[in-house]
Amino acid sequence: MTKEDVNRVVIIGTGSVGCSYAYSLIHQGTAGEIVLIDVDKEKAEGEAMDLNHSIPFAPAPAKVWSGVYEDCKGADLVVITAGLAQKPGETRLDLLAKNTEIFKQIVKQVMDNNFNGIFLVATNPVDILTHVTWQESGLPKEKVIGSGTVLDSARLRYMLGEYFDVDTRNIHAAVIGEHGDTELPVWSHATIGMESIYKRMHEQADLEEKTLDDIFENVRDAAYHIIKRKGATNYGIGMSLLRITQAIFNNERSVLTVSAHLDGEYGEKGIYIGVPAIINRGGIHEIIEIDLNETEKKQFTHSAKVLKNLMSHTS
Ligand code: 2OP
Repeated sequence: MTKEDVNRVVIIGTGSVGCSYAYSLIHQGTAGEIVLIDVDKEKAEGEAMDLNHSIPFAPAPAKVWSGVYEDCKGADLVVITAGLAQKPGETRLDLLAKNTEIFKQIVKQVMDNNFNGIFLVATNPVDILTHVTWQESGLPKEKVIGSGTVLDSARLRYMLGEYFDVDTRNIHAAVIGEHGDTELPVWSHATIGMESIYKRMHEQADLEEKTLDDIFENVRDAAYHIIKRKGATNYGIGMSLLRITQAIFNNERSVLTVSAHLDGEYGEKGIYIGVPAIINRGGIHEIIEIDLNETEKKQFTHSAKVLKNLMSHTS
């Protein structure tokens, strides 16, 4: 199909993540055209049919179809959710070799159609696969974005909101680093209703530093806890992808902890890793370099080191 003057999103991979994301795009009226591509063509067709039947109730019109790589020509955003999923007990990094190969083939087919929009990657290990996408596509680094720790930051805000009994929207707290086992919370900049989390903690007599550690452990291990129970995670990541998409299409300049390519920021070079960044219509407009305390600096450096070691397995 030829592109009309609306935002076109091509979703590669119609598993539970791709479909939750597509559903949330329709729900919020965020994209006028949604193209589904999957190696299982029938699955993509079935999902497109089902999603189309929700459109009469959506806030804005949208067209959804099961497409081909040629549909990437002129697309605004290609979102990759394809790849093998994490099995119970398996880390995100275990998936590396298998998903790298799948990605090389996907990115080649997208670029063969002169794609010049923005790539958004969600498949794990997301930081490394975003790097693979950047390398294979040859696009500028600001146009290749990974979902990074956007979901982890959302999980942290949700859990802090529950704990402090404060609206999640008034909680500013971020998780940065690898989307995975070495990620870290930036407590030094966390605020609960505009008050520093440490001050808030001291006001609540029953709250100790250990409580924050426990909350963060639950955030870091959330995917394991969910996968053990239902086999996969999809809604949290679906909404995280939606949030990034809105920031891009609405030229919001919102700050989100996406996986971005570092070029000296935080003392690191040549890796994709979760950091706060300003997202606008062009993709990653600016990486925000916050002052980390000594513990956070060490944790971040360790996280970056783990990713660098793993990256050497992808070339
Ligand atoms: C998640 O954190 C598995 O990366 C996925 O939900």
